[in-house]
Amino acid sequence: MSVIAIVGGQWGDEGKGKVIDLLAEKARVVARFSGGDNAGHTVINPYGEFRLHLVPSGIFYPQVTCIISNGVVINPAVLLEEIDDLHNHGVDTSRLFISARAHLIMPYHTILDGLEEDRRNKGALGTTRRGIGPVFADKVARLGIRAGDLLDRDIFWGRLSAALEFKNIILTKVYQVSPLSAEEIYGQYCHYGEQLAPFIRETSSIIREAATKGELVLLEGAQGALLDPDFGTYPYVTSSSTLAGASCIGTCLGPRESDRVVGIFKAYNTRVGAGPMPTELKDEIGDLIREKAREYGATTGRPRRCGWFDAVAGRFSVQINGLSDIALTHLDIYDGFSSIKICTAYKFNDEVLTSFPSDIAILEKCQPIYEELDGWQESISGIRNFDKLPAAARNYMSRLEDLLSCPISLVSIGPDRRQIISVKELFS
Ligand code: IMP
Repeated sequence: MSVIAIVGGQWGDEGKGKVIDLLAEKARVVARFSGGDNAGHTVINPYGEFRLHLVPSGIFYPQVTCIISNGVVINPAVLLEEIDDLHNHGVDTSRLFISARAHLIMPYHTILDGLEEDRRNKGALGTTRRGIGPVFADKVARLGIRAGDLLDRDIFWGRLSAALEFKNIILTKVYQVSPLSAEEIYGQYCHYGEQLAPFIRETSSIIREAATKGELVLLEGAQGALLDPDFGTYPYVTSSSTLAGASCIGTCLGPRESDRVVGIFKAYNTRVGAGPMPTELKDEIGDLIREKAREYGATTGRPRRCGWFDAVAGRFSVQINGLSDIALTHLDIYDGFSSIKICTAYKFNDEVLTSFPSDIAILEKCQPIYEELDGWQESISGIRNFDKLPAAARNYMSRLEDLLSCPISLVSIGPDRRQIISVKELFS
């Protein structure tokens, strides 16, 4: 078996939860390595329909140990609610562990995220307002509070009071809102700490042990490549790395230890929040994709912007992640389309660009250059064998493989766990 990193190839919401839910059947460990409860992984299985924000999507299998790793930021209230919901649906969470190194989202992080979005007004980034930017900023500013701090009340009080002294200056002097009470937050978080204590531990040894024994370890990313703070559409990005490289630092493994890197791509593109998206369709085709695929944010409920597949961005994503495989999702959404477009290059002034620009000022002015392929009329959601897919669907996949220089190993043709076709073997 092997270590497989699974990452979003576009702007997030590609269907990572579903793919991990499928692959986890053979896994020993599933470790989430980045992001926070800004992510929303939808999983539909015999237990019901779930929107997991923090708990790794492997939780539904009894042999899988699930880890919320050091690279993740945790809002304890959200996590406890999610654990409760899983319990209520009969899902065992005794194999869930939280890294003592994972940073905690504190009440001032969510408040500051909202205040800053409001201050930016028309220039708002469209964040999920879950405190993600402020908590990662504190992590690197060495002002953060980690899950392990909850296990020692003196340490926790010391870190909280030091951080809050500074945050209250920002809240009152910069944003002119009321200060927060250290005692109140302390009481609330000590209560969370009591409930989370059984889950908090040093987790890297669990991952390392499974990897050393050759058991299957899945490293679960969050969001997508184009929201990466280094390589995404900065500043319209999230605040932790979404790329496969982060699966090492966000867990405990070294760069040589992943055997495969699977990028999840939708058959089309979506984006939530502000920022450039060259293939966005503000017409009835975009609306049709949104309604057919229920493209509304799992975390915020916001309508997602929809558009044709952008192969310029897709190729860039393959490169910056070092993908070995692609899992293509939502192919069934194109059932009944007479033709399907793929963006193969951008027109920028008089130039034709075939690589993804680093500057959004350029990207915002890029016009997509499309190639048009035949669609198919039949429903593909009942098909379980690649060879049985309509020729036009196979042709579409084959064209994407060529444009992205990466094989498609899985294709998903509906929301259910069984609606996925293995095209090439992923496991060695
Ligand atoms: P933040 O991560 O909440 O700071 O939001 C920054 C940007 O990332 C915004 O455009 C969000 O809409 C986007 N974003 C964050 N998480 C997700 C996700 O899970 N799916 C899609 N977009 C996301």
